Amino acid sequence: MPMRFDIMTLFPELVDTVLGSSIIGRAQKSGALTVATHQIRDYSEDKHRRVDDTPYGGGKGMLMAAQPIWNCYQAVLAQAGEDERVRRHVIYLTPTGKVLTQQRATELARDYDHLILLCGHYEGVDRRVVDEIVDEEISIGDYVLTGGEIPACILTDCVARMVPGVLADEECYEKESIASGLLEYPQYTKPAVWHGREVPPVLLSGDHAKVDAYRLETAIALTERNRPELLEAWRAAHPPVEPKKKRRKKTAQPTVDTEPPVDSAAQGEVSC
Ligand code: ADE
Repeated sequence: MPMRFDIMTLFPELVDTVLGSSIIGRAQKSGALTVATHQIRDYSEDKHRRVDDTPYGGGKGMLMAAQPIWNCYQAVLAQAGEDERVRRHVIYLTPTGKVLTQQRATELARDYDHLILLCGHYEGVDRRVVDEIVDEEISIGDYVLTGGEIPACILTDCVARMVPGVLADEECYEKESIASGLLEYPQYTKPAVWHGREVPPVLLSGDHAKVDAYRLETAIALTERNRPELLEAWRAAHPPVEPKKKRRKKTAQPTVDTEPPVDSAAQGEVSC
């Protein structure tokens, strides 16, 4: 069964446009994924189809009310028609959630068959419906957007590309930037000289070991410059390979240890 994403939102057309395009759009057409959006307003029992109200206790802005979200959620469950074996998980996109990481996205792709995403708007959502239906609250970063739609698209894209059949080459996402622990090395395509800038000659050499070593070196340099905290973690996980101590024969002369060759495989593969 393809992995299923249901997105509850006040702006389904925004989400449909983003997720209906490019690789995720193609994956839906090929049947590798199912993505459905649901207009929360359609489930409002208010005669003016209102979905928001003022917060108790005062304060600025409006809150999304519990009732339309609850009814929308019930409709999603009914439409999915799943049995209890389906591993379902409900996520509320909010700036107060835990920040999304590649690691968490990988776990979501691995551990669940059905993700239901709730996009907040206005100043937030009545807490009671969050407590009633939501398993996890996720933020896409320490900044505030006008709503949860773009975060829901980002989360869906990030998780969906790890679903089998979505990317042409599944190996790619396992070894790429961030997943490997390092930022991805700079890449170049034809022509070999552009605006007077040359492609680094080693990449034209055809020597795969040298290319791998160069890519590792440039990935480390880039990570050090832009994300030093990632490099620190990567170094801790990839200690330099210790030279093997030669056993002394009883009558042998003392030996001199030489520097070990740089082993790019032991240092972590960075190419895809
Ligand atoms: N809604 C508004 N800002 C958000 C953020 N940073 N992450 C998730 N949902 C949000």
